[in-house]
Amino acid sequence: MMQQHLLTLLYLIASVTFIIGLKMLSHPASARKGNQVAALGMTLAIFGTIFLYEDAGMGIQNKGFIFVALAVGTVVGWMIAKKVKMTAMPEMVSLFNGMGGACAMLIALIEFNHLNHVAQQNPGTTFSESVPGGFYLAIVAGLIIGSVSFAGSIIAYLKLSGKQKDISFKGQHILNIAFLVLVVAGAVWCYNAGVQQAAMYFYGTLVISLLYGVFFVLPIGGADMPVVISLLNSFTGVAAATGGFMYDNKVMLTGGILVGAAGTLLTMLMCKAMNRSLLNVVIGSFGGNTTNGSAASGGAQHYKEISLSDTAMVMNYANKVMIVPGYGLAVAQAQHTCHELENLLIAKGVEVKYAIHPVAGRMPGHMNVLLAEADVPYDKLLEMEQANDEFKTCDVVLILGANDVVNPAAKTDPASPIYGMPILEVELAKTVIVNKRSMKPGYAGIENELFFQPKTSMLFGDAKKVLQELCNEVKQS
Ligand code: TAP
Repeated sequence: MMQQHLLTLLYLIASVTFIIGLKMLSHPASARKGNQVAALGMTLAIFGTIFLYEDAGMGIQNKGFIFVALAVGTVVGWMIAKKVKMTAMPEMVSLFNGMGGACAMLIALIEFNHLNHVAQQNPGTTFSESVPGGFYLAIVAGLIIGSVSFAGSIIAYLKLSGKQKDISFKGQHILNIAFLVLVVAGAVWCYNAGVQQAAMYFYGTLVISLLYGVFFVLPIGGADMPVVISLLNSFTGVAAATGGFMYDNKVMLTGGILVGAAGTLLTMLMCKAMNRSLLNVVIGSFGGNTTNGSAASGGAQHYKEISLSDTAMVMNYANKVMIVPGYGLAVAQAQHTCHELENLLIAKGVEVKYAIHPVAGRMPGHMNVLLAEADVPYDKLLEMEQANDEFKTCDVVLILGANDVVNPAAKTDPASPIYGMPILEVELAKTVIVNKRSMKPGYAGIENELFFQPKTSMLFGDAKKVLQELCNEVKQS
């Protein structure tokens, strides 16, 4: 009894750490600590369960297996997380999320087998006569949501790592709706079937749920993937919460609900940042490998180039410079050199700030994390709305490996796939300098009018190399 009280207390502490951790994750300065606080809570909950859980006087069996699994999972997870490049982070998040979905799916399968075993003792009855309805509901919800999240996350992982292309075909939405109807029908049929047939319907529901997960994610365009990953993340949270219901486990329930709610909020925020509805993301096909609308050509219009020394001079004489970081800065790993340039300019009396677009890079908060790594002070990072208010007071905007997030087509070209997405209005500044390696398009695969505007100059080259040379030029001037 004493053990049970202690475990309840540990679960309470763990739940509180999840909430505190989540709160701390909302600011780059405290995010790392927040992660550690929540991880500590999770460790307490796991070890508390292993050593203190008791049911009818029996503790957890098979501790040996559990510790081997824990050790393997910890080592593999640790190694992957250590090795992963910043640019491959969304893939990793997607893969790990898929593992969470798979867990919920496996729990549902195991618990169904227990129920089915009991039901088989009463041949000639229906499954519903032998099993409690609420318990079955938690199992089947865990199965459906977990397997959709698992299959969808694996497809998302394959797409983000370039191993799988977007696939869309006529009638795809109808097929998906049919899958959904079949999934619900399978769950109901299983409950009402005779005990001999119930398993067939249950496994049928599993297969259709997996297929739905695959076909739901396959057509979604590359630029919409983060929204989908966040949505799948919230699914995994809900699936884990169903496990909490099954086992009457408060910490699993709290953790699952927090992940579900946070994932849903993040999904909504990202949709808002792109000015699109969730339905539009899920059934539309923006970005990815498509180059519809204004196709990327790069050659037809005239653009002008600027030299390194001229760039250094223009920035030296500026009162205010706004840096716009994008995916290319992350690829080049040029954040430290960028911070060095910022310091050199500040030493020369130039005011320097950063304009952060919410979907710059390849994952939510990508630019914040990148710049925090280089110790750029947080108060220098402006959110999109603030930056758009300040561009008109800037002498120079220096764009480093950003493209889609500064594309004016989002405001001016209704045929563009990014039309309606809020962008950084860099053209309000006096001079715009764009650093990238070529005239190739960004993630959405579309041409950028900004590069051809009279106040824009192109500074070609790898961001890190260009920034290093710019630092030298500024030092010498
Ligand atoms: P992008 O539009 O993808 O543009 C990045 C640019 O960086 C490219 O045009 C590329 O041009 C340049 N680049 C690549 N490597 C470089 C290097 N080593 N040095 C210098 N430049 C380099 O990036 P963005 O403006 O950050 O926009 C993000 C896009 O990704 C949006 O479409 C967004 O919707 C999508 N997306 C965002 C997320 C989230 S949540 N952040 C997740 C997935 C997708 P060159 O090849 O010519 O160098």
